Formats: sequence, C-alpha cells, structure tokens
Amino acid sequence: MKVLLATEKPFAKVAADGIKEIVEKAGYELVVLEKYTDKSALLEAVADVDAIIIRSDKITAEVIDAAKNLKIVVRAGAGYDNVDLAAATARKIVVMNTPGQNSNAVAELAIGLMIFMARNQYNPGTGSELHGKRLGIHAYGNVGKIVARYGKGFGMDVYAFDPFITDHAVYEKDGVKPVSSVEELYSNSDYVSIHIPATEQTKKSINYDLISKMPQGATIVNTARKEVIDEDGLAKVLAERTDLKYVTDIAADMQVVLNEKFGKRVFATPKKMGAETQEANVNAALAAANQIVAFFTKGENRFQVNKW
Ligand code: 3PG
Repeated sequence: MKVLLATEKPFAKVAADGIKEIVEKAGYELVVLEKYTDKSALLEAVADVDAIIIRSDKITAEVIDAAKNLKIVVRAGAGYDNVDLAAATARKIVVMNTPGQNSNAVAELAIGLMIFMARNQYNPGTGSELHGKRLGIHAYGNVGKIVARYGKGFGMDVYAFDPFITDHAVYEKDGVKPVSSVEELYSNSDYVSIHIPATEQTKKSINYDLISKMPQGATIVNTARKEVIDEDGLAKVLAERTDLKYVTDIAADMQVVLNEKFGKRVFATPKKMGAETQEANVNAALAAANQIVAFFTKGENRFQVNKW
C-alpha cells in the first residue's frame, strides 16, 4: 500500500515524522511531496498511490483522474472544499477530514487578530479592549465553540448563530446567547468571527447588506474561507463606513486593493496560518494517518464526508 503526503504548505517536521511512523508501522510505504509549486508535480506523485494525505492542496477531477489506484483522500484539517467530492465519489474514492484536530489553533488566531485590530495593528495610539464588547460567532462548530469560550474569558458578551443548531440549549449551556438570524448576529456584534465552510450556499454570503448592518466601529474576523465574502460588497461598505474593519487569515482576491484603499482598517496574514502550530499539525497529521490505517485494516469510515 502506498500513501502520499502531499503538502504544498508542509507540516512541522514532528508531524510529518509521525505520519511516517504510523504508515510504516502498518507496513505501508510513505511518499512525501512538500512545497511543490506546480500541479504537474502532484499529478505525477499521485499516479500509483492508494491513499493521499493533504492540507489545503487541491484535489481536482484532473488529480483524481491521474490517481488510478486511489482509494482514500484524507484532508488533514476541517474544510474539504479543496477536494472535488463529485469526482471522488464517482470513482468511489473515500474522502475524509479530521474535524476538531486544528480547531484550537484557529480559535487562538481569531482572538489574536481581534486584539491586533483593537490595538491599531500594534502601532502607537489609543486602541480599545475586547472586554465588554459583543462577540458574534458565525457558526457554532468546533472552532466557533472555542472562540466563544475564549471570548468569554476576555469578558466579552458572546452571541452565536448557526443555521444547523436550532436547539438553544446547545448555546446556553456554554453561556452563549443564541440569536435567531444571521442578520441579527451582524446587527448586534462589535466583532463577528466567521466559522462557516465554503459551500455553494455560503459563498459570497457575507455581503454588502449583511456587513452594512454592523454597529459603529465593528470588526469582521475571517479565519474561515475567503470565498464566503462578497469582496465587492465588502469594499463598498468599507468605503461608505469608515468605522468598519476587516481582518482575515485568508487574503481576499482583491486584498492589494483593499490594503491600498483602507490602510490599517484591513489586514490579511501573508499566508493562511490558522492551523500553523506544531500542536495542530501533529493532531491533524496523526489523525489523518491513523484514519487511513483504520480504513484499510477495519473499514473504519467515521469521518467520511462523501457517502454513496
Ligand atoms: C482547515 O480547514 O482545517 C484549515 O483551513 C487549515 O488549513 P491548512 O491545513 O491549509 O492550514
């Protein structure tokens, strides 16, 4: 059995070593493709492998077509919008993610980005505090729940909206106030922290109308996906409302323009770094390797995201 670790953005060495140990202990061979700059390298590497571990690497229909022996792809992380699920499913290739394994790292970054913006990107001058501010959690999944907890630790008033969690008890047991619509969340939050996946339903859903509803001086924190933002709408509202701020871990396609026009009211990390901690790398990497072994040895498919 041949397993490919394909990471354009490599894991910490300890995490990659952990994958190797698990894979080889199971009697499989590990092939590593890191820091590749061209998709041709990926197309070549997948040709004879049975399993692939990836991060945000794009597993397109072309890649799947080139991987004639492929049986399973594990996205070491949460979001699997980088995998062409339809193409994988058509070939009955199992796709899994490793939910929760890197959530703490992303949640810590979300809080860090809030403080960074509250303190003028660490430039001289008077900033503000998170304490006493309203924090709106947009989607109450693995990351959203931790951001909520940390926000409460800072003395923030925490609200949440998740279209898939209608039972108020889920929020209330965490001391979080549920709101009944996404509009209500944005209207009443000094900070909104976005934790929705990029799907056909959510793409460009954070739009002009929604952002316009935010109160004076509000900040949007995006550690989710750039695709969920309607960038033209964001630019329009930032031009009209000089009090609003946007901070993101996933640079917008028009980030250069946003930076030019809005200066210190916007910020994007140079390369997505939410899950870039040694701890998160190890958690997600080992989980991915273990899931592959469990799949081949026991047919375990608990984290499969494409069913047929
Ligand atoms: C995820 O979906 O798990 C995060 O976006 C992490 O992505 P990365 O593995 O590319 O850092």
